[in-house]
Amino acid sequence: MCGIVGILGREPVADRLVEALRRLEYRGYDSAGIAVLEDGTLKRVRAAGKLNNLTARLAQANLHATIGIGHTRWATHGGPSETNAHPHIAGNVAIVHNGIIENYAELRDRLAARGITPESDTDTEIVAHLINIALNEGMKPKEAVLHVLDELRGAFAFAIIFAGHDNLMIGARRGSPLAVGHGEGEMMLGSDAIALAPFTSRITYLEDGDVVFLTREGFEILDEERRHVIRPLQFTQAASLLVDKGGYRHFMAKEIHEQPDVLGHTLGEYLDFGTGRVKLPDMPEGLDLATLERMTITACGTAFYAGMVGKYWLEQIARLPVEIDVASEFRYREAPLKAGGLSLVISQSGETADTLAALRYCKAQGQKVAAVVNVPESTIARESDLVLRTYAGPEVGVASTKAFTCQLMVLAAFAIGVARARGHLDEAREQELVHALQQAPRLVVQALEQEERIAAIARELAHAKDILYLGRGINYPLALEGALKFKEISYIHAEGYAAGELKHGPIALIDENVPVVVIAPRDALFEKTVSNMEEVRARGAKIVLITDEAGAAEHGAKAFQTITVPAADTFISPLLYAIPVQLLAYHAAVFLGTDVDQPRNLAKSVTVE
Ligand code: G6P
Repeated sequence: MCGIVGILGREPVADRLVEALRRLEYRGYDSAGIAVLEDGTLKRVRAAGKLNNLTARLAQANLHATIGIGHTRWATHGGPSETNAHPHIAGNVAIVHNGIIENYAELRDRLAARGITPESDTDTEIVAHLINIALNEGMKPKEAVLHVLDELRGAFAFAIIFAGHDNLMIGARRGSPLAVGHGEGEMMLGSDAIALAPFTSRITYLEDGDVVFLTREGFEILDEERRHVIRPLQFTQAASLLVDKGGYRHFMAKEIHEQPDVLGHTLGEYLDFGTGRVKLPDMPEGLDLATLERMTITACGTAFYAGMVGKYWLEQIARLPVEIDVASEFRYREAPLKAGGLSLVISQSGETADTLAALRYCKAQGQKVAAVVNVPESTIARESDLVLRTYAGPEVGVASTKAFTCQLMVLAAFAIGVARARGHLDEAREQELVHALQQAPRLVVQALEQEERIAAIARELAHAKDILYLGRGINYPLALEGALKFKEISYIHAEGYAAGELKHGPIALIDENVPVVVIAPRDALFEKTVSNMEEVRARGAKIVLITDEAGAAEHGAKAFQTITVPAADTFISPLLYAIPVQLLAYHAAVFLGTDVDQPRNLAKSVTVE
């Protein structure tokens, strides 16, 4: 995950920028750089690899500037080279950026029409050029940035400085986090409070859509509608913590809101931006995806539900038969596995005892083992033949949120890669699916915008004793995950069911006291799920319908409450529908006053059987 820092200070900033970047190292990176304004001119030092390479170069540069921006980059658009490292400079503009600009190809064509060829392969440099063009057309820096922000699609955070403007730094966030630090006569920007901890503990977190204009004397924030707003000043303990709550009340809330950022980052690892196609790591020797006959997936808890979604993708898109089981069952089932086949395990921590035992069983059966893991140093990662990493960053809340959606992102990319290898995907369809995945971070931002409304609905659900979640097809695992989230942090009994199974038992539970959450995008199965919704409605159940606008327009009136999720390619619907189910669970638990981040009886990493 990339890291951003900016300092508008009184003393030389180069070393302080690097100090802040060191504190962002935990996010992972493969190049770094800083840009400063020295005597009114932009100067930049960058280096591929670790920060020590950058400091070696800085030692020669002898910079004394008091304003500058810095960045640690984890490659997405373009490889991890010095040319692609941030900051990017175009004319009088220097910029650092986290996130992905979705309409990058279109904007690049616009530059080409003006005869501008960017030096790097990055989407970021395009933004620098666009701002510089606006300056050349006579706009002032603030106006130019606001103008260009309107043109960008995607999820991002920026820090920007301008040649000739020694007392101005501009920050903006949409999706990716960004915080303002308040020093003594100086102001700062950082991806999180941890980066700024050596200099200040006074932090203002920007909200989505905010733009901030910093001077040494103060700052001014405009919200998404470009109205002046005041965001609260907070005191953080980040100096003593590696991971802080980022201004949120709970880690879980922070982690839910980090999803646009970490999803973009995870996707970036599995995409070739040049071709718009999926890029997978090299397969272990002896594993040929093209001739694979079947695959086994094992995991526990939320990771298991991610695996269920993965099964739908792998079977539908890659036509690969997938068997899936919870690891605690699988490990003792003595399932026959054909040597040379592929087993996939999924684990956030990479330490879950049952999942690890399943992995070892598969290996003993002569399987190649692939692992979707969030912790690359974990035992599961070390013992696997192929590691498919999620880049969710540290997840502290016991109830998994961002790790789940990142697991989905990796599984979606993997399914595309397998489909291609097996000849089930032509280039055009692959690009369509990749395009859909690229939109996920932005659409997750939009889904998160419903939070207040979802919180109000959650407070009503919090009075129930039992809740049913229904879903069909690829959204059936989401119903299971929704119910799991709800019960584990609110301690209210919730059950997920395949909508079509309702009549075979659970419908007996239904009366006016049992709310039913129906997850139903307007896809090919929508009408069928709506029929199941009618069945429970006829028995007095209060329905919370989670659907898109088209679904809400058609059948929203039948529900007690409707939550609308942005319309999207059905391929990515599990990524989007995860957001309202997480928020429902979170806000019900907050309302009930439970220990949201550490619910009773549960552990983050279950290393015993
Ligand atoms: C525990 C956690 C869950 C997690 C499960 C699997 O139950 O509370 O959030 O989904 O373990 O953990 P893993 O680290 O293997 O994904």
